[in-house]
Amino acid sequence: MMLHIPQVLTKAEVLSLRGLIDAGDWVDGNVTSGAQSALAKRNEQLPEGSPQARQAGEAILDALARNPLFVTAALPQIVFPPLFNRYGGGQTFGVHVDNAVRQSADGRVRIRSDLSATLFLAEPEDYDGGELQVEDTFGLHEVKLPAGDMILYPASSLHQVTPVTRGVRVASFFWIQSMIRDDAQRTLLFQMDIAIQQLTGKVGPGAPELVSLTGAYHNLLRMWGDL
Ligand code: NI
Repeated sequence: MMLHIPQVLTKAEVLSLRGLIDAGDWVDGNVTSGAQSALAKRNEQLPEGSPQARQAGEAILDALARNPLFVTAALPQIVFPPLFNRYGGGQTFGVHVDNAVRQSADGRVRIRSDLSATLFLAEPEDYDGGELQVEDTFGLHEVKLPAGDMILYPASSLHQVTPVTRGVRVASFFWIQSMIRDDAQRTLLFQMDIAIQQLTGKVGPGAPELVSLTGAYHNLLRMWGDL
């Protein structure tokens, strides 16, 4: 499932984050690539573990923790410390699949990447190109979101970032190990949770049918989830 999560950060939070990371020492983006994606990748990154990346990453993790749509959709077990990249002057990241296992530079975090996330930190009108193209079984999806919005997609998807031909595309990217490893199971739980929330709004939380449905949701989570 691909999911657009609007306003993970407010415009004011984006501005303050940009102030912080724009002042960092950006380096060649291939520092985090596997050998295959290094061939396709032309961009810049904030060094993992740099003070700016750490502080900005913490702010994003805080915002995610208080975002109910993210929590419901991702059922996160571990969120990788957010990284930051930027593309300008024709830079691009050709078609690739993200590594299945990710380890932080300091060795403290190691995850299975179930979900990939891109949090946009530049307004779409400030650059040309830079679409995130994700291929799934329904075809090719092209994503370019307002600053502060995020796209969540299966880390198993082939994806690319098209060349940025004007301006600069700045984003945060990271991976999530979910309590639910399988995308189809996670999607079912998401749909069920959303329907339960909508029903609760209509009939109130105490309806016996809703109690049963909520019980079934939790029992599926118990059956499929790992912690
Ligand atoms: Ni990628």
